[in-house]
Amino acid sequence: MARRKKLYEGKAKILYEGTEPGTIVQYFKDDATAFNAEKKDVIDGKGVLNNRLSEFFMTGLTQLGIPNHFIKRLNMREQLVRAVEIVPLEIIVRNVAAGSMAKRLGLEEGTPLPRPIVEFSYKDDSLGDPLVPEEYIAAFGWASQQEMDEIVSMALRVNDYLSGVMYGVGIKLVDFKIEMGRVYEGDFPRLIVADEISPDSCRLWDMETGQKLDKDVFRRDLGNLADAYTEVARRLGVMPSNV
Ligand code: C5P
Repeated sequence: MARRKKLYEGKAKILYEGTEPGTIVQYFKDDATAFNAEKKDVIDGKGVLNNRLSEFFMTGLTQLGIPNHFIKRLNMREQLVRAVEIVPLEIIVRNVAAGSMAKRLGLEEGTPLPRPIVEFSYKDDSLGDPLVPEEYIAAFGWASQQEMDEIVSMALRVNDYLSGVMYGVGIKLVDFKIEMGRVYEGDFPRLIVADEISPDSCRLWDMETGQKLDKDVFRRDLGNLADAYTEVARRLGVMPSNV
């Protein structure tokens, strides 16, 4: 890949300079990591599936008028996206108690929440992405109050969209994480959904059997991760073989 400049390599993706100004090429790796990279493996085909699934979800958001970074898929593992100034927050929306929330509050996994809950972690691997209150976000200037209002409202719209799409194929959207970034057009920055939306960053449970179809399969050694993601792609009609 000497033909272009690598901008950043993360745990699951590599970012290269894009073909046009203001764009980035997002390459999806097969690497899977959990527990802040304490657990690692290479899952054949994961990058291809996540590239295709993120394209599917971002395109759906575009159709609903929810701005996001996706421009076009370039090939099996790469997509062209808009360059953003990333907001240093992981924006998590939960519909059902699971994972860190279930642990923190002593709730049984699977307990429905009274309403969707939006929470924020500060994006910093060396700190393990700690949960932060909105007070910190404002005080440290990670996002303005006006941006936070927009982030919450967009996150809930994404939740409505994703929950509906997944419900349609018999899958419960338990929770998910998104990231947002600023693009500069005219005088004011505008927020758009960035990074990726894939089973790496969602909890997806089969509505009938409760079978997990997301990264918990890897985190908790529940079986073959690529098989779980392939099942999600198959139900949504976005099999990588259709590319
Ligand atoms: O671990 P926790 O329960 O806080 O995760 C909530 C949701 O956010 C899960 O869907 C998980 O996959 C996602 N997440 C993520 N990246 C992180 C932390 C959480 O995609 N660094």
